[in-house]
Amino acid sequence: MNIRQFLESEVSRALVAAGAPEGTQAMVRTSARANFGDYQANGVMGAAKKLGKNPRELAENVIRQLSLADVAEKIEIAGPGFINIFLKPEWMQQQLQQWITDPRVGVPKADKSKTIVIDYSSPNLAKEMHVGHLRSTIIGDSVTRAFEFLGHKVVRQNHVGDWGTQFGMLIAYMERLAAENPDAVSMELSDLETFYRDAKKSFDEDSEFAEVAREYVVKLQSGDEHCKKLWEKFIDISLNHSEEIYHRLNVSLTRDNVMAESAYNDDLPNVIKLLDEKGLLTDDQGAKVVFLDEFKTKDGEPMGVIIQKKDGGFLYSTTDLAAIRYRCHTLHADRVLYYVDARQAQHFEQVFSICKKAGFSTPRCSLEHHAFGMMLGDDGKPFKTRAGGVVKLAELLDEAEDRAATLIAQKSPNLDEEQKVDVIRAVAMGAIKYADLSKNRTSDYIFNWDNMLAFDGNTAPYILYAYTRVKSIFRKAGVQPEELSGELMVTAPEERTLAMKLMQFHETLDVMVAEGQPHLLCGYLYDVAGTFMTFYEACPVNKAGVEEATKQSRLLFCALVANTLKAGLDVLGIDTVEQM
Ligand code: ARG
Repeated sequence: MNIRQFLESEVSRALVAAGAPEGTQAMVRTSARANFGDYQANGVMGAAKKLGKNPRELAENVIRQLSLADVAEKIEIAGPGFINIFLKPEWMQQQLQQWITDPRVGVPKADKSKTIVIDYSSPNLAKEMHVGHLRSTIIGDSVTRAFEFLGHKVVRQNHVGDWGTQFGMLIAYMERLAAENPDAVSMELSDLETFYRDAKKSFDEDSEFAEVAREYVVKLQSGDEHCKKLWEKFIDISLNHSEEIYHRLNVSLTRDNVMAESAYNDDLPNVIKLLDEKGLLTDDQGAKVVFLDEFKTKDGEPMGVIIQKKDGGFLYSTTDLAAIRYRCHTLHADRVLYYVDARQAQHFEQVFSICKKAGFSTPRCSLEHHAFGMMLGDDGKPFKTRAGGVVKLAELLDEAEDRAATLIAQKSPNLDEEQKVDVIRAVAMGAIKYADLSKNRTSDYIFNWDNMLAFDGNTAPYILYAYTRVKSIFRKAGVQPEELSGELMVTAPEERTLAMKLMQFHETLDVMVAEGQPHLLCGYLYDVAGTFMTFYEACPVNKAGVEEATKQSRLLFCALVANTLKAGLDVLGIDTVEQM
């Protein structure tokens, strides 16, 4: 239980003891201002209204029922009946002292581990990964890491698009190139974008080729060995491309996490059969359709979702229905989270709704589309190359490294070569990831190199720098954090603020995974770094005249700050460096 939850349960208990009905919520929140205490309970007013009592009187009664003597130094009533809770420095000290050598900085593993299926990245394999895949990949991966950090079981599902008519064209083209010159194939496939374009060109201009391509789609779908081999080769090469990107970005996806669209093929006829048995299917001019009352067309008619086309072909939605069956009934998910852009919102609402009606999902399982907005250029339009083309992720990462190299050459000319390589990589990848993660995912955001590489503000370089700053304090003091022995003392107001921040890591992570919102963690780490800078200014460590016990205590704070920043950045999938 994090601190907020602990206070919530304690104040709720007191509310009930003071006469509020069973189940009344204390509504404890972190206080907006220091004079309102560290936490504030807002639930008294509502409860008093229901009971027909004076809220301030009820609040007094609640306070009498509280047993927080060890935890709180002061509990006050404010305004119409808010309860402000000021935590005790001694209690903070006790908590923090236990966490000094704990890399998890006091965050326990969940008592009840849940199974969370996370569908992210999921590119279509016909083309190379481009900026459109960045947000899903980065946000999904950091939420994945947060769940794992909290002790939950995560099943990563990279639902790659490896099926569909364009693959007929691609494998036919691959075969044709090989017939002309086997070496040309691997050459061309090293650039999937060009390969796709050339294949498409042949398809559009050469009717004989188009005929073969169409034949190959049918053959592939009916399990023809030759076509399947070609297709497997293509998919393998395309997945290698994605894996290179994952590796560069420090994204935790591997081959084992690929659960492609094609993996559900065999189950699709079954999906149709089950929907039919439930009476959900309607024949609409030869196509099989589910009509949903809760979605209306422009004319106010129930909206139809096509599950099987007239020619027998299945659709993107059909595969998603099968995937939910698998995730709920085979993987036994408690939650299935989809990191897919906002334009697919209706697709998911419809698929989720059909699954509920058909029993493809289970009552215990929550299906959630965690939508995100678009990545925009400085002009506020979708992010494109200067020529107006899609930006390949590989090229974006190259540019980040070039820019970081220039920046680090100016900022830290004294690093040795090996350190430099690490710092450039950490800053480059960190900047791209952090710029994305630090924004509320539901809105669009402007991708701007200068902003994300700035050393001030809520950026990766700022947080990475703060971390190295703490590390340098230890170097200067000539001790390792593990060697510290003294007692942590919360005395100065800056120490109190820092102590409170450090204690809120757990609740920040809890909210982040509940909402699938990494920007909450970014905001938190930014606050930790800022609070630390203020603390360090007021409470120097290595200055002459600082007493030994004080120095030890301050170093303990530094150790906690370093561990929190490191653990937090780890959850975001961002590497730290010791010096920069
Ligand atoms: N491949 C899809 C695309 O690029 C995203 C897949 C998302 N996941 C899913 N289960 N539909 O648009």
